[in-house]
Amino acid sequence: MTELSFEDLCRKPRAEILSTLQQMHLPAQLRMLEAMKDWLRKKNRRRVDRYFTDSGKAARSGYPKQMQFFELGRTHQERGLFGGNRSGKTLCGTYEDTLHLTGEYPDFWPGYRFDRPIDAWAAGDTGKTTRDVLQATLLGKPGDTSAFGTGMIPGDRILRVTVKHGLADAVETIFVRHVPTGGVSTLQLKSYDQGREAFQGTANDLIHLDEEPDLEIYTECLLRLMTTNGRLILTATPLRGLTDLMLQFMPHLAPAPDVVEAASWQAPPEGAEDE
Ligand SMILES: Nc1ncnc2c1ncn2[C@@H]1O[C@H](COP(=O)(O)OP(=O)(O)O)[C@@H](O)[C@H]1O
Ligand SMILES: [Mg+2]
Repeated sequence: MTELSFEDLCRKPRAEILSTLQQMHLPAQLRMLEAMKDWLRKKNRRRVDRYFTDSGKAARSGYPKQMQFFELGRTHQERGLFGGNRSGKTLCGTYEDTLHLTGEYPDFWPGYRFDRPIDAWAAGDTGKTTRDVLQATLLGKPGDTSAFGTGMIPGDRILRVTVKHGLADAVETIFVRHVPTGGVSTLQLKSYDQGREAFQGTANDLIHLDEEPDLEIYTECLLRLMTTNGRLILTATPLRGLTDLMLQFMPHLAPAPDVVEAASWQAPPEGAEDE
């Protein structure tokens, strides 16, 4: 009799799996356990495949707003995804960052596509929040070497990282394999507390701002994309209210200036009452 493979076992009904395992000899059970560990390790290192799926709990049909946000990348250089806490903003941003870095766009991808390796930035409020939110989501839990590669960027696409000085376990640049060309994409992690100067300099293809920066940093970022036809993604909870930056995305929310109100009042034409 040929031995049951791990794939065969997984295809059995749930209730049958345990009893099948119990009937096996110890060496076969151990082989099955090894196969299971291997499968789990691979699955954990391709987290990107678990989102916006065809069906199941993470099916993209359940996230129409996010899908629209992705799609608008084809026609718009700047995009904002705004919502409350834990509404999936960081997840969407880092998901899109990852697709552009690796060039591995799933067939359904409705958004913009780069056909070459890219240079990207992802930035948050402070060095610490950038490490704990963006770095953690993209690479895996900071400081835990065994978690490296369990974030959104697939483990086997990460070529190397450079460390950031002055903050424990923080990463500065992530070098990623751009699969279609065999080239190398880079993602640099930055924070707004580094000041505007940190956002000056080189041309860039993609900038992901997680949470709202000052307008001067935002403007600096736009300049970096001018020569590359690059893309800017802002994922934020509008905690600061109707700032100048938010109003650029939502001009219809601008309060009407007093002068318009005054001009909208018109005295009836003379003699109108007589008609
Ligand atoms: N498209 C999605 N598919 C599956 N889970 C999602 C999706 N969007 C959000 N989630 C879930 O919500 C959690 C919070 O998302 P996150 O991006 O951190 O929120 P935010 O940045 O808006 O505070 C995620 O860790 C994930 O479990
Ligand atoms: Mg977030």
